[in-house]
Amino acid sequence: MLMLGIETSCDETAVAVVSDDRTVHSNVILSQLDEHRPYGGVVPEIAARSHLQNLPSITRSALQEAGIPYAALEGVAATAGPGLIGGVMVGLMAAKSIALVQKIPFVAVNHMEAHALTPRLTNAIEFPYLALLISGGHSQFVAVAGPNEYRIYGTTVDDAIGEAFDKTAALLGLPYPGGPALEQAARDGDPQAFALPRPMKGRPNCDFSFSGLKTAVRKLAEDNSVELSSDQMISNISASFQQAAAEVVADRAAHAAERFLKEYPEGRTIVAAGGVASNVSIRAALNKAASDLGLEFVAPPPALCTDNGVMVAWAGIERLQIGMSDTFDFAPRPRWPLDEMAL
Ligand code: KG4
Ligand code: ZN
Repeated sequence: MLMLGIETSCDETAVAVVSDDRTVHSNVILSQLDEHRPYGGVVPEIAARSHLQNLPSITRSALQEAGIPYAALEGVAATAGPGLIGGVMVGLMAAKSIALVQKIPFVAVNHMEAHALTPRLTNAIEFPYLALLISGGHSQFVAVAGPNEYRIYGTTVDDAIGEAFDKTAALLGLPYPGGPALEQAARDGDPQAFALPRPMKGRPNCDFSFSGLKTAVRKLAEDNSVELSSDQMISNISASFQQAAAEVVADRAAHAAERFLKEYPEGRTIVAAGGVASNVSIRAALNKAASDLGLEFVAPPPALCTDNGVMVAWAGIERLQIGMSDTFDFAPRPRWPLDEMAL
């Protein structure tokens, strides 16, 4: 089954061709980073216009790289939400048009579902598993029992973890996008340099909170005795922040895993996905938390953790394989909680 996947929900115009034997035939991504950089964040209007301008040529490139004509496609999937409405509309309309002309099934994919199912493509893991989705807009634990069976265990009560990385990086004067820049700066820093809070650590639920950690860094940055113009100081704060975030994530994961194992004793795996799952310290902390519980930890390679068309194509395959496709009146969903689609 050859599936085209289209992702336009944020600031990447991404199209890929994937088949059900787990072959990635092409994976084309056009990042809009340079267009948004002057504003220090994603500007929805600029994103939508850029998706509109670039999606046709990116789609052509994806088919060319895969070496297949439109007529060989057996399905087309697009992110239908959650995300920035303008971009989602562009991708969704393109996918519906291709499906209409080629007379193939159209699949509307939830962006978070696409992240959550990626480890099934990259590591062929079995259901059920516990997924930790950590990105710019989300921090949540989801028990994944099947392609359409999700149970949310916990989420953030304030900022998403990627947002906390991005805002903290901005406070420290690091370049946009902040997450990868902060990780880079942290490499030369001392993670014990500053005692930052570990919000939610030890709490019995599976929720996150990151705004306190961000505020603690802001107070540190405002403290005159801390010289922010020194690279070493910025590295030390970055490393301390990353260490605190990683410890919190590992602690929350252990709680979520206990609940998961009660509900799914046959479960064996913790999965991390979303942009922040490409962070090496976070991955290492999760790996340890999983092995302490006798579970395996799996995360896709970094290029498939951040937004891409491959994950959308794969989610389309998983849904189509269980007979799920969508009609052309499917409307974009800027907000679309994963458990609303649960059986
Ligand atoms: O999944 P993603 O590409 O887009 C969303 O759906 O949000 O995630 C982007 C987020 C941004 O907040 C970015 O700063 C963060 O993931 N991120 C990282 C790293 N790479 C991306 N955060 C920490 N360390 C990284 N290496
Ligand atoms: Zn994402």
